[in-house]
Amino acid sequence: MKFKSKIILGDSLKELKKLKSNSFDHCITDPPYNLSNYSGKKNIGWYKSNPTWRIEKKFNKIDEKWDTFSDDNYFNFTKDWLDEIFRIVKPNGNILIFGTYHNIYKIGYILSKEDKRIVNSIIWYKRNAFPNITLRMFCESTEQIIWSVNNSTKKAKNWIFNYNEMKKLTHNKKQMRNMWDIPMTPKNEKKYGRHPSQKPIEIINRLIKGCTNKNDLVIDPFSGSGTIPLVCKINKRGYFGIEKDKKYFNFSLKRLRSSK
Ligand SMILES: C[S@@+](CC[C@H](N)C(=O)[O-])C[C@H]1O[C@@H](n2cnc3c(N)ncnc32)[C@H](O)[C@@H]1O
Repeated sequence: MKFKSKIILGDSLKELKKLKSNSFDHCITDPPYNLSNYSGKKNIGWYKSNPTWRIEKKFNKIDEKWDTFSDDNYFNFTKDWLDEIFRIVKPNGNILIFGTYHNIYKIGYILSKEDKRIVNSIIWYKRNAFPNITLRMFCESTEQIIWSVNNSTKKAKNWIFNYNEMKKLTHNKKQMRNMWDIPMTPKNEKKYGRHPSQKPIEIINRLIKGCTNKNDLVIDPFSGSGTIPLVCKINKRGYFGIEKDKKYFNFSLKRLRSSK
């Protein structure tokens, strides 16, 4: 592999523009979902003023500045980074993007508008998701991953899907289905620091093993605590991660250095 895997501290909107066209095999990423409503004010709102949920039950509401946009700004932000991904990922490379109902339809809309082939969406069922404390709706306990290919609906071909690898990971050695029952990130994956939306290694492992090959190069423009780069490293895939928050960037460096 010619490319030296790395993670960098920076803003993806600027850094992606510096990368060469067709220089990555795939993009696997977990962008901001725009589900926070960060105001910068402390101790306001039901969450912060509710010690039972916040302190006793350690309810981890995502309330981050990096995850707060107006609707239009979020759409434009998503379109901007996706346009760069379409440019730097090779034709027929896989593009896998995490989301919830807050953002996944916007991402799906952009992919369809650009006529990208959508192969599947995967439902991640979090059976131990935090309860809904407003009691006004069903308890949100799923996330989704859209899998698309960097080519048009008609022309897309030969995308990577390691069918047999996926079969091996199922308990009955039958076809892997697109509903994945995987608990939220376990404590032992958080020993180098805390990130509010750190993904479990198990879910990323399926994506890397299923949708990339050894020595492929994967771009993750929102690398957070570094789970996607880490699982690439473990599985001998190349990676390029970008994270703009120094705290999370340092956390991901520690995680990467800790793995052989
Ligand atoms: C949903 S989290 C990713 C979590 C990651 N998958 C993990 O397992 O730790 C999104 C990350 O994107 C970062 N981020 C937000 N906007 C960014 C930007 N413009 N450029 C680079 N990173 C950004 C945030 O700081 C956050 O850590």
